[in-house]
Amino acid sequence: MGLKGKIILVTGSAGFVGFHTAKKLLDDGAIVVGADNFNDYYDPGLKEARNKILEGYPNYKIYRGDLSDPKFVEKIFTENKFDKICHLAAQAGVRYSLINPQSYVKSNIVAFVNILEAVRNNNIKDFVYASSSSVYGNNKKVPFSVDDQVNEPISLYAATKKADELMAYTYHHLFGINTTGLRFFTVIGPWGRPDMAPMIFADSIGKGKEIKVFNFGKMRRDFTYVEDVAEGVILSLEMVGGYHIFNLGNNKPVGLEYFISCLEKELGKKAMKKYTEIQPGDVLETYADIEYTEKNLGWKPKTSVEKAVNLFIDWYKEYFKI
Ligand SMILES: NC(=O)c1ccc[n+]([C@@H]2O[C@H](COP(=O)([O-])OP(=O)(O)OC[C@H]3O[C@@H](n4cnc5c(N)ncnc54)[C@H](O)[C@@H]3O)[C@@H](O)[C@H]2O)c1
Repeated sequence: MGLKGKIILVTGSAGFVGFHTAKKLLDDGAIVVGADNFNDYYDPGLKEARNKILEGYPNYKIYRGDLSDPKFVEKIFTENKFDKICHLAAQAGVRYSLINPQSYVKSNIVAFVNILEAVRNNNIKDFVYASSSSVYGNNKKVPFSVDDQVNEPISLYAATKKADELMAYTYHHLFGINTTGLRFFTVIGPWGRPDMAPMIFADSIGKGKEIKVFNFGKMRRDFTYVEDVAEGVILSLEMVGGYHIFNLGNNKPVGLEYFISCLEKELGKKAMKKYTEIQPGDVLETYADIEYTEKNLGWKPKTSVEKAVNLFIDWYKEYFKI
């Protein structure tokens, strides 16, 4: 179908996944309206740098403000006539949800409802939003399937993402809005987040500082390349109709030790490892079953974890001039 000439709201456009998604949409000829509050959960300078690249496109504009404020959301929807909504803004991060739970309620619940209400009041049919693999909690069955029960979130972050899926269902049922929730699995790549393992590890390895290896290295993550994820988001925006939940994961989890060895190889330096206990809220393993996604969305990841680490470190060295 293609989204050329379509007007799309991308919330969280100054964020990691939002930036890549907005950029790909702009490259495909869509008109993108971004919205972000550039908060300081991590360095806002990185968000500004991503946004600057997007502002190089004539078909992009940004609204700066907080989506938990209904007046701000109303202003965006009054001034633009959207074809589709791509809601990626959220308070991300599992560990921080133990420190500042209110921030998750504000950005992942209140802002989410504000957007749903605006979608409803403006008769917009298609709504795509970010969920998370964290909804699976300590699911014993691997790989994780969208048919599995996800009623035991082990962090408030996960609970708010599960709540988003439930609220999306309600708006689909009551108002016939097409909603697609995407459960992203540990996204990695250029312009990545400073609060996530790849950047934290790269920083410490580079500076010869200790890295904390949680659960004594016995953890596995299904790292997924950011451009593959953005492609999945765009396929979801193109898809028409219904209520959906899809896993967007690599389907090839790797152990933490192996992941660190990939970083060491790219950085040409050995990590100083400090083995330690698992952090509260962290899950032991993530592993996406993507059969349903492949069949119904036509999406398949293309990038291996080794390549993803290579592309991430190339960007990291260039951005931080290392
Ligand atoms: N990166 C991952 O590995 C991953 C995994 C699973 C799910 N997710 C989800 O994907 C989405 C994008 O994540 P990301 O990694 O790009 O995170 P990010 O923090 O880089 O991006 C989120 C953006 O939303 C903005 N934002 C947050 N609250 C806001 C508010 N109330 N009003 C306006 N803007 C607000 C932030 O400033 C940020 O730029 C999020 O919904 C996240 O929960 C990400």
